[in-house]
Amino acid sequence: MVIFRLSLMVAGIIDTMNIAAPLISWQRQHGRHGLPWQQTRDPYRVWLSEIMLQQTQVSAVIPYYERFLASFPDVAALARAPSQDVMAHWAGLGYYARARNLHACAQAVMRDWSGAFPSDAAGLCTLPGIGPSTAAAIAAFCFAERAAILDGNVKRVLARHFAIDGDPTTRAVETRLWEVARAQVPTQSMLRREPDAMSSYTQGLMDLGATVCGRARPRCETCPLQKTCIAFKAGRTEELPWPRARKALPERSIGMLAAWHDDKLLLVHRPANGIWGGLWSLPEFEVSLGTAAGCRKAGIDPVEIQPLAAFLHTFTHYRLTIHPVLVQAKTLALPDTGAMQSEWVELKALAGRGLPAPVRKLISGLQADALL
Ligand code: ADE
Repeated sequence: MVIFRLSLMVAGIIDTMNIAAPLISWQRQHGRHGLPWQQTRDPYRVWLSEIMLQQTQVSAVIPYYERFLASFPDVAALARAPSQDVMAHWAGLGYYARARNLHACAQAVMRDWSGAFPSDAAGLCTLPGIGPSTAAAIAAFCFAERAAILDGNVKRVLARHFAIDGDPTTRAVETRLWEVARAQVPTQSMLRREPDAMSSYTQGLMDLGATVCGRARPRCETCPLQKTCIAFKAGRTEELPWPRARKALPERSIGMLAAWHDDKLLLVHRPANGIWGGLWSLPEFEVSLGTAAGCRKAGIDPVEIQPLAAFLHTFTHYRLTIHPVLVQAKTLALPDTGAMQSEWVELKALAGRGLPAPVRKLISGLQADALL
C-alpha cells in the first residue's frame, strides 16, 4: 500500500500539497464568520459585497454595504434608482467605475435575466463589472460551484505556498497561478461529504490572505498550510510573491475652484466616463492660466480670490496635485460649463451629493476653518 501511494505521488496523481482540507477546517475554527454578507446566499447581497470588497478593506466596506442595502434592498430597486443616487451612496469608496458597472449590472439582470442573477460563474462573468474571480466567489458562496478565485490576496497565498516566481501581474505568471488555483478547489467527493465546503474553502483563502499570509510579516506560526508551504520551508516568504515592476506614475496638476455665494457652493456634475465619473465636484482650471484667468475661464465673476495650500491625490495611473482656490462669487449666475451640468448647492445639502473623497475633505477643511 505504501509503495502504491508513493508511486502515485511520484507520478503526481496524488497531490500531497492540496490545501483544501486544512484550509477548510482552519476557516471553520479561525476564519471570519460574522461579516454582514456571510449571513446570506442571496446573489444580490453577495455580489454587492464582492464588488465593494475589490481593493477595499472589510472595515471600510461594512458601513457602505449596510447603507446601500437599506436604500436598495434588491436588484430591482438598484436598477431603477437614478444613477446620481447610486453614485452618492458610493462616494468615498473610490474606484468609481465599480459603481457605474454595479448600476449597469443591476439593469442587465433586470433586462436580460428576468431579475434573477445567473446561477453559475460562466453566466455571472457576462455581466458588467464581474470578472472571473468575482464570478467564481459569488458562484462558490451562493451555488456551491467548484469555481476558483484569484484576487490579490489569493495570488500571494498561492505564490508563496507553491513558490511561484515572477511578477504576478504578468500574463505568464497569472496563467500559472490560475492553473494552481483551479487544481486546489475541493474535489467532488469532498463536496458530496460536506456540501458547504466550497463556501468555507473560498472564504478560507480570502481570510488567510487577509489575516495570516499578509504582505509584510506573515504570521506563519499560525498558518494551517505551514507544513506544505514551499516558501516557508525555503525561508522565502519575504521575497514571494515578487513585487510588481513599478513604473513612476505621471504627474499632473489642476486648479480647483471653491466658489461660494451666500451659503451656496458651485458644483459641476462630472461626465460618466473618466475620473470621478458621475460624481459632483468643483470646477477646475489649468494651473498655467493663473487663478484670476482660471476663474474667468470657468465663468465665475469673482469678488475675492484666495489661493490655498496645494495637496496631492494619487490615482492608480497618475498623481494629481490639486491647487484649491477659494472664490467669493459676485452672483449666483450659472457659468457655461459646456457639457457638464452645474448647480449652486446649499452647504447644508452637500452631504447628499456624491463627491470624490479628496474634494469632500477639502470642503470640510474649509468649513472647519470657517472659510465657507
Ligand atoms: N474580500 C473579497 N471578498 C471577501 C469576502 N467575501 N469576505 C472578506 N473579504 C473579502
